[in-house]
Amino acid sequence: MDNFSIAIDGPASAGKSTIAKKVAGNLGFIYLDTGAMYRSLTYIAIKESLSLDNEDELVELLDSIEITFSYEGDRQKVFVNGEDVTELIREKDVTQHVSLVSAHTKVREEMVARQQKIAATGEIVMDGRDIGTVVLPKADLKIFLVASAEERALRRYKESVAKGMDVSLEQLTKELKERDYYDSNRIASPLKKADDAIELDSTHLSIDEVVEIVLKLAVERKKKEL
Ligand code: CDP
Ligand code: CDP
Repeated sequence: MDNFSIAIDGPASAGKSTIAKKVAGNLGFIYLDTGAMYRSLTYIAIKESLSLDNEDELVELLDSIEITFSYEGDRQKVFVNGEDVTELIREKDVTQHVSLVSAHTKVREEMVARQQKIAATGEIVMDGRDIGTVVLPKADLKIFLVASAEERALRRYKESVAKGMDVSLEQLTKELKERDYYDSNRIASPLKKADDAIELDSTHLSIDEVVEIVLKLAVERKKKEL
């Protein structure tokens, strides 16, 4: 039997990585943050002044970089060729340009190949935009996590303020909506709910409540497969 896998997709700031990390920790599964992979490539491309429209140059750059993760409890670190980029890939410039980079078909093909290779190594929870539709189309459990745009922007705002970042809620809301629009309307594997995914609206749910629901669904699915 294939490794048990859970796919969590949804728009920005719906809580995907927070939930995925906790669910993986609880079940003893691997966790893979696919957004961090697209962010890493974007960060390096900006640093090397590449044109983000140039698909071939981006693919060449991707070929030269290894993206790895380390985990300490709930804390995840991201490395590009050994350099810790955990904080750098969350910066505004990367967030504003990542959707341009992730829209390229050839970039996606390479990222998906890497993600599938990691998924083959063990039981996994993966979060992103195309996990249930493209990366793990046979995932045992697919969650499409949503929340209202206002709530999602507020969550991102609170998180940014807690980190000491100078942000405006209005600007964050605008950028979040723009990114969702771009991610949902690109040609190459756009953000969309897989037909067999369960949609979960977390607007009025706490992190623990969402984790509990996902764990319950995972246990039910696992029992069914035994
Ligand atoms: O955490 P946040 O929701 O801000 O975004 P993320 O998960 O870090 O993803 C950053 C960007 O990467 C998204 O806006 C998408 O453009 C892209 N992405 C993607 O295209 N496919 C994925 N599987 C994951 C992320
Ligand atoms: O990965 P994604 O962009 O979907 O979202 P995230 O980075 O996991 O969550 C964005 C923020 O929302 C974090 O600060 C979470 O702690 C918070 N959150 C929340 O307040 N309530 C939830 N039910 C889920 C997440």
